[in-house]
Amino acid sequence: MFKILEANELTTNIYQMIVEAPRVAEACLPGQFLIIRVDEEGERIPLTICDYDREKGTVEIVVQAIGAETHLLSKLKAGDHLADVVGPLGKPSDLCEESIEDLKKKKIVFIAGGVGTAPVYPQAKWLKEHGVDCDVIIGAKNKDLVILEDRFKKVCNLHVTTDDGSYGRSGMVTKALQDLWDEGNKYDHCVAIGPMIMMKFVCKLTQELGIPTVVSMNPIMVDGTGMCGACRLTVDGQVKFACVDGPEFDGHKVDFDQAMNRMKLYKTEEGRLLLKAQE
Ligand code: NAD
Ligand code: FES
Repeated sequence: MFKILEANELTTNIYQMIVEAPRVAEACLPGQFLIIRVDEEGERIPLTICDYDREKGTVEIVVQAIGAETHLLSKLKAGDHLADVVGPLGKPSDLCEESIEDLKKKKIVFIAGGVGTAPVYPQAKWLKEHGVDCDVIIGAKNKDLVILEDRFKKVCNLHVTTDDGSYGRSGMVTKALQDLWDEGNKYDHCVAIGPMIMMKFVCKLTQELGIPTVVSMNPIMVDGTGMCGACRLTVDGQVKFACVDGPEFDGHKVDFDQAMNRMKLYKTEEGRLLLKAQE
């Protein structure tokens, strides 16, 4: 059992939790994820790690209550326990593999959309700790849905944009990226994490601008170990499993339309049966 030490609502329907999980905290790196279960009968929920503290043996997760299981999770309070916290899963971000000297020569921009803002944080923090500067664009529908702003300000050059213009710049993240580019920010590397539709359109733009782009894919996952096939994607014409080959991929090679169609199919029983038959 894994004890929840802190549980807070960050904004409407988005919850942050700090969980005691020393072995995960000891080993995890930015870009990796966890699969948790609220109780023994619960469904598995894949969640990207928002932060970790090796000394305290804790990991931080951010979850949007969208389905039955995430609603159950969101009701838990400090002192409650999770049945399982499995991880770290997936490969760490490629940035962790590059030499710091090479990273310092690059102009890096992260695009963080909605709840996808949470998994960007450990990457920006890791770069800051290694003396590497980066820009982060946070995009949210409106002012109330901007999360983790104060923490980001301490680790990066932050640009916030809201779809309705209620805070920061006005418009979607693609507009902010284009504007920053036109203002003279010639980025060499982009990392986009957020809803698939956002990642698709960020990649379309960065392809035009010639910026290599990494995306973090979050398809449906079941086992998280490459066995069930649920998280299958097509990348550069090849079948990949987000849980073991990713979650990060070259965004210019991902078949987003297929990935989004698979997500839609999983929403109906008929669709789930169809996908199962294809696996
Ligand atoms: P949202 O719909 O509020 O979108 C966030 C931002 O993305 C918007 O403010 C906008 O700037 C940008 N965006 C959206 N559509 C766009 C488009 N067509 N073109 C350009 N930019 C666009 O986000 P949300 O409701 O917080 O997102 C929830 C989704 O994020 C869920 O589907 C969840 O699965 C996913 N998510 C992904 C990851 C990941 O690792 N990729 C992590 C957490 C959540
Ligand atoms: Fe089963 Fe990836 S979640 S193969």
